[in-house]
Amino acid sequence: MLRVLFVCLGNICRSPTAHGVFLKKLAERKLEHLVEVDSAGTAAWHIGKAPDPRTIKAAAQRAYDLTPLRARQAIAADFDYYDYVLAMDKSNLSDLTALKPTAAKTSPELFLSFAHHFHEQEVPDPYYGGADGFEHVLDLVEDACEGLLDEIEERLNHVR
Ligand code: 4NP
Repeated sequence: MLRVLFVCLGNICRSPTAHGVFLKKLAERKLEHLVEVDSAGTAAWHIGKAPDPRTIKAAAQRAYDLTPLRARQAIAADFDYYDYVLAMDKSNLSDLTALKPTAAKTSPELFLSFAHHFHEQEVPDPYYGGADGFEHVLDLVEDACEGLLDEIEERLNHVR
């Protein structure tokens, strides 16, 4: 079993998008029983809330269902439980690096380091912008999810 945690600031826009997209792509590759997925925010503002309605709508237009997801805050124990702790931007990465206990198993990394087609390093925060920002988040997230799945599939093939 491998475990993946997607992290952004509020856990209502970018990381729930990655969470929902990744779950669907895992199922398409028949890997859902081998990989556990969650998402979290570095901030506590939206704990317990569903994703932003604009995030839910943009994802639904590409057939991803984000409605069951609820926000939580990232905690120090996540760095021992998860095999991948994936930050949406450099600010999330720096907050996660500060939260990680020195001896913990997993170091946070930038999610878009797994992207094949896009060369951006960060998933931009769409919260204060227009609808096109949410589309761009989906484009980046879909690309990086495919790249991450390629790596995970390879890892799982080696241990089988
Ligand atoms: P997220 O977006 O980090 O992608 O969930 C944000 C959501 C809420 C806020 C900022 C970013 N906020 O300021 O409440």
